[in-house]
Amino acid sequence: MKQSWLHWLPLWQPPSLGKSAIKTAPSAGSRTTPDTLVPMLTGVASGAAIVASGITMQFQAGEERFWILQGIDLEIPCGSLQVLLGPSGVGKTTLLSILAGILTPTAGTVILLGRSITALPECQRSSLRLQQVGFVFQEFNLISALTVFENVQLALTMKGIHGSIARQQARELLNQVNLSDKFDQLPRRLSGGEKQRVAIARALAGKPRLIFADEPTSALDSQNGYTVVSLFRQLTRNHGCTVLMATHDQRFIPLADRVLQLEDGRIVQ
Ligand SMILES: Nc1ncnc2c1ncn2[C@@H]1O[C@H](COP(=O)(O)OP(=O)(O)O)[C@@H](O)[C@H]1O
Ligand SMILES: [Mg+2]
Repeated sequence: MKQSWLHWLPLWQPPSLGKSAIKTAPSAGSRTTPDTLVPMLTGVASGAAIVASGITMQFQAGEERFWILQGIDLEIPCGSLQVLLGPSGVGKTTLLSILAGILTPTAGTVILLGRSITALPECQRSSLRLQQVGFVFQEFNLISALTVFENVQLALTMKGIHGSIARQQARELLNQVNLSDKFDQLPRRLSGGEKQRVAIARALAGKPRLIFADEPTSALDSQNGYTVVSLFRQLTRNHGCTVLMATHDQRFIPLADRVLQLEDGRIVQ
């Protein structure tokens, strides 16, 4: 499945969707919270970054329809590193895309950081993703006309971080994934593993609260894979970030807080 990272571009920060769009949990007994907000806040109140209920997804192949996800219920606590494990074709990318609000499921609901996203208009989902979510695409989706540095810098710019601060943060992000000597390279001159690390640095731009990483170690050697997964873990520990990483790579499972096994359209733990 190929999604364009540019998919995120057009709806950057519409004026009606500033930080205030993300509601925080009300204090117990608050009389000022409208009833309509209560279901939206369930996840945050329970300390969950993601609450998914009854997620099903049907695809069409020629004349035939098939179910790739068949009723997934999932609660992912804030500040944890979760691994979604399963063989190729089982539906990992589909599930990640649904949980991040990129795809709409055939049925079911997703609450992301306390906000029910399933019924939100696309413009509001885009804005929520831009402000709160980093997504490492399986196929990297780097912008080929921009250098490594510019790819990361653009992500920061889209999040409202400009000038010398953006340049400083881009440098730090790329240094963290051991790419300090590749700033001026275009993506076509990079190895698969290097592209993957640029995609990871870009997903971390602006310190998202939620990171979805689709096979983020598939092109990496053990050392760089360990660096990346350790970085994810550090973000969960030090910054309360939540990371959901899809993989069929078992090397880094010991670093995860929980492993979710996807099998026949269901999570079997
Ligand atoms: N848009 C689509 N239309 C039809 N089939 C799709 C679509 N997206 C994914 N699929 C199919 O759904 C299955 C699961 O895909 P995917 O979620 O990419 O699996 P994984 O990430 O675990 O390898 C695959 O058989 C894939 O071909
Ligand atoms: Mg996949």
